[in-house]
Amino acid sequence: MLKGKKILIGVTGSIAAYKMPLLVRQLVKEGAEIRLVMTQAAKDFVSPLTLSTLARSPVLNQLFDEASWANHVALGRWADVMLIAPLSCNSLSKMANGGCDNLLLATYLSATCPVVVAPAMDEDMWHHPSTMENIDRLKKHGCTIIPVGYGELASGLVGEGRMAEPEEIAAYIKEFFATKETLKGKKALVTAGPTYESIDPVRFIGNHSSGKMGYAIAEELARRGASVTLVSGPVSIKCNNPKIEVLKSTSAAQMAAHCFDHADYDIAVMAAAVADYTPVEVSSQKIKKGDGDFTLVLKKTEDILATLGDRKKEGQVLVGFALETQNERENALKKLQSKNADLLVLNSLQDAGAGFGTDTNRVNLYYKDGREISFDLKSKDEVAKDIVDAITELL
Ligand code: CTP
Repeated sequence: MLKGKKILIGVTGSIAAYKMPLLVRQLVKEGAEIRLVMTQAAKDFVSPLTLSTLARSPVLNQLFDEASWANHVALGRWADVMLIAPLSCNSLSKMANGGCDNLLLATYLSATCPVVVAPAMDEDMWHHPSTMENIDRLKKHGCTIIPVGYGELASGLVGEGRMAEPEEIAAYIKEFFATKETLKGKKALVTAGPTYESIDPVRFIGNHSSGKMGYAIAEELARRGASVTLVSGPVSIKCNNPKIEVLKSTSAAQMAAHCFDHADYDIAVMAAAVADYTPVEVSSQKIKKGDGDFTLVLKKTEDILATLGDRKKEGQVLVGFALETQNERENALKKLQSKNADLLVLNSLQDAGAGFGTDTNRVNLYYKDGREISFDLKSKDEVAKDIVDAITELL
């Protein structure tokens, strides 16, 4: 699976370094070519001799000694991927700030290949705002972060911060090489989250959409090489992927305007929960409480999906969502047809673990050509992969 793949591994000073011999052995077994760089502190946790024996190549450590200079530029250019595992809090901070006081950091700064990191630290360090900021910076710089695990920590505490297990890191690396940029050159438009329709300066009509599904789809499309425009309603998720352009919107009308400006898409996925109605009049002052009942008059918003469906050109793939509480299949098929979508993703609020705010979802796909596929409950990231697989097939 990894035959001929060149993996440059950087090891920094964390107790989790003791797991690295197992990872190196597994990657070598799978056929990868390994080169290793260690920081000085890493040598206190795992022996360079063990790693170099398993990697079948010398471990590099010094930027230069009396007689020679280690060519970090060549190393960084040699690799197909650079993996930094474990990534300690200290090395993370230096990487996030462009520090360059050892060979590993110089190699990282010279690397022209993608960089994947597996952080490892104690829970309180992991949750410290400066650590989170440094992780965000690394993401912005294009690094992939392998999530930390939950469990026993070196301090004796139990919590978040453990480095992912060697098998998990190996699976990440394998998936990295397996992912082909099948959507390179394609333009994707994704909507996500709720819309807020103002009633007056302090009140609005909204819904419970968290935006997680739409953001996961945008990430997956970008991972496969598409250039993605994500039109997002008000959500608390941050997107740091440099391959995704995020356009913020609040109301259905703003969301519609952004979408129509980007109607030259190859793929459009309308995952947002767009308000169907908006107040006829928005009061410029806060509406004061009166004696009797209060009636709010609403008018229809423009249906973005249906309008894009009307204007769809040959070769464009348009995907809609339906969130239903009853007659799910019937309603989904109606929406597929009436909005001229090529694919409709149904989630039912009847399913436990599916719908708003959860990290999981269970969807059914309905195709224009009559096919129907039903999936199990999965994480929203996994569901995003299934949806993008279906889109790729339709293209
Ligand atoms: N949608 C849209 N613009 C709107 C309303 C909905 O683009 N003004 C899109 C949603 O993003 C979703 C699909 O239409 O992809 C279905 O949305 P949903 O609210 O379930 O369907 P509606 O057609 O509004 O029908 P109803 O609310 O009656 O179920």
